[in-house]
Amino acid sequence: MKISIAAALGLLAVAVSTAEAVKVNPLPAPVTISWGKTGPIKVDNNFKIVGPKHDVLTKAYARTAALIKDERWIPQTWEQPAGEFPPFPTLSKRGDDDDESTLKAFNNGGNKNKSIKTFTVQVSDLKADLQMSVDESYTLDVTAAGEGIIKAKTPWGALHALNTLAQIIIDDGKHGLQIEEPVHIEDAPKYTHRGIMLDTARNYYPIKALMKQIDALSWAKLNVFHWHITDTQSWPLEIKKYPQMLKDAYSPREVYTQRDIAALIKYGREHGVRVIPEIDMPGHSASGWLQIDKKAVTCADSWWDNDGWTHHSAVQPNPGQLDISYDGTYKLIKDIYSEAANLFKDNIFHVGSDELMTYCFNYSESAMDWFKQRPGSTYPDFAQYYLDKALPIYMDKPERRLMMWEDIVLSPDMPAKDVPKNIIMQSWNSGTANIKKLAQKGYDIVVSSADFFYLDCGNGGYVTNDPRYNDALEANPSDYSATTLNYLGMGASWCAPYKTWQRIYSYDFTKGLTAEEAKHVIGGEVALWSEQSDASVVESKVWPRAAALAELLWSGNRNAEGYKRATELTARISDYRERMIARGHGAHPIVPKYCLQHPHHCDLFRNQTAWGK
Ligand SMILES: *[C@@H]1O[C@H](CO)[C@@H](O)[C@H](O)[C@H]1NC(C)=O
Ligand SMILES: *[C@@H]1O[C@H](CO)[C@@H](O)[C@H](O)[C@H]1NC(C)=O
Ligand SMILES: *[C@@H]1O[C@H](CO)[C@@H](O)[C@H](O)[C@H]1NC(C)=O
Repeated sequence: MKISIAAALGLLAVAVSTAEAVKVNPLPAPVTISWGKTGPIKVDNNFKIVGPKHDVLTKAYARTAALIKDERWIPQTWEQPAGEFPPFPTLSKRGDDDDESTLKAFNNGGNKNKSIKTFTVQVSDLKADLQMSVDESYTLDVTAAGEGIIKAKTPWGALHALNTLAQIIIDDGKHGLQIEEPVHIEDAPKYTHRGIMLDTARNYYPIKALMKQIDALSWAKLNVFHWHITDTQSWPLEIKKYPQMLKDAYSPREVYTQRDIAALIKYGREHGVRVIPEIDMPGHSASGWLQIDKKAVTCADSWWDNDGWTHHSAVQPNPGQLDISYDGTYKLIKDIYSEAANLFKDNIFHVGSDELMTYCFNYSESAMDWFKQRPGSTYPDFAQYYLDKALPIYMDKPERRLMMWEDIVLSPDMPAKDVPKNIIMQSWNSGTANIKKLAQKGYDIVVSSADFFYLDCGNGGYVTNDPRYNDALEANPSDYSATTLNYLGMGASWCAPYKTWQRIYSYDFTKGLTAEEAKHVIGGEVALWSEQSDASVVESKVWPRAAALAELLWSGNRNAEGYKRATELTARISDYRERMIARGHGAHPIVPKYCLQHPHHCDLFRNQTAWGK
């Protein structure tokens, strides 16, 4: 079947055999969606969305209606049963479905007289704040009689409904708009925390690029932008008390002013996306801090690796950690955290705490004194000393919940001994093994397992003067191993290979957890560490892969029969990617377009349950 646009317009409706057999199925798949069978419902070209007055929703009604009218979406692919293929080797027929007989002329049936002029939004609690665990459920009904009604408990559920609406109203091929069939949707996310993490310290992203990501997040019903703002390499965050910190921004242009931050938070709220800031402390800290008090940072001037792992002071250049033995450090933490925390509206603040390197403290006289004065003390005691001094600073208001990388509990070298259980742990190592450990200890968990959710993996290494790339050293293909740079090796990307959308979607991150432990998993994030990324590539590195995460966290990766539904996601995510391109986002292609126009022809297995349960 070759679909030219004209043919697609003329032949938009396949004979409807199951409730889902229409072209448009939103991503993430709603929890329940049931399509009627009475035919298309016209949507008036001048339709409106009306609902209660609300600072966010009122703008969203107009924005959504304008988007739909402007986009006039023509589905680029849709789910169809896998076709029949002749047995090998009689390649007389390619196995295409017979278009004319299986596709019914578009616009048959339906109520041609009436068109929907108004979609009505009803919200029962307009005051609900955009915070973790806010109700995001909604129902959406379009009836054969031509009524369109959205009901949500909160504005944030209503925003999701509007994004669904924008995916189901399509072009009718006659300069009009339509919804293919009456539809009833009941929807709510499985997990409350669904996001992406972007690192704006290794490389800088203009605030407008971050706003563009907010748009994309909201379309996919992702609700968290985890902003890893600072790291050792640069400090782009304006702190008015210490303006000198911005000397360690990459340039005076590559900074986030407090005005920028307020604008981003406002933009996020208007799109139902929470902005959760991260200032990574006490590890990954040098730039910025050094400009205020050199004694607050240790090992900043060391050679990061000493050409050998035994004396490494950092996992990557450049080294630097807050000197947690030095009292002056806590004054800086207090001043900087207090000012930063005031800028952000979210109850959650991420305070880093990953990858503390013990050897880095050997560069600090103060730290060495700390150990001398406390004979028998261990690195875990030292980590605990930091937590005991820093937590009262971080817990600045009763609603505050902190988020930390799991290292503070699970690091083999320097875990703290007593980490409060209400701190949310972000898990990045060892997949479900670490998730289980954290759940057993009673922590709530945000899943970012590197082996599934890290978007920077498989890109090769970025450190320079890396003689491992010298081909002569790896000249023999039979020498390959996980550590070689060629011949199926890791290519110097520690978390290689690249995680494809199918890999992301496949992740059963609660596997092996008891029901009680699974309740501790509050969601997940894909993460783009930015050593080799900035605004020039962010679209293609994040999208459409983050859409696979979005569905995984919204309605899961299994169909009603319990089978993993990656083959069903194929059409949704392919169409979604085309839509992102139409909306001006450079999401990368995941297949040759041939595969969109020939559903299932690019499947590795004809067996549609090959993924199993
Ligand atoms: C549409 O309008 C025509 C003429 O008024 C009427 O005969 C027909 O029953 C209407 N169809 C529907 C489905 O309401
Ligand atoms: C680093 O400091 C620790 C703690 O005092 C000490 O046990 C260790 O021997 C030191 N390492 C080196 C290489 O000096
Ligand atoms: C399809 O794959 C599933 C999962 O591997 C398997 O159980 C089933 O038998 C396969 N069906 C056919 C027809 O091969």
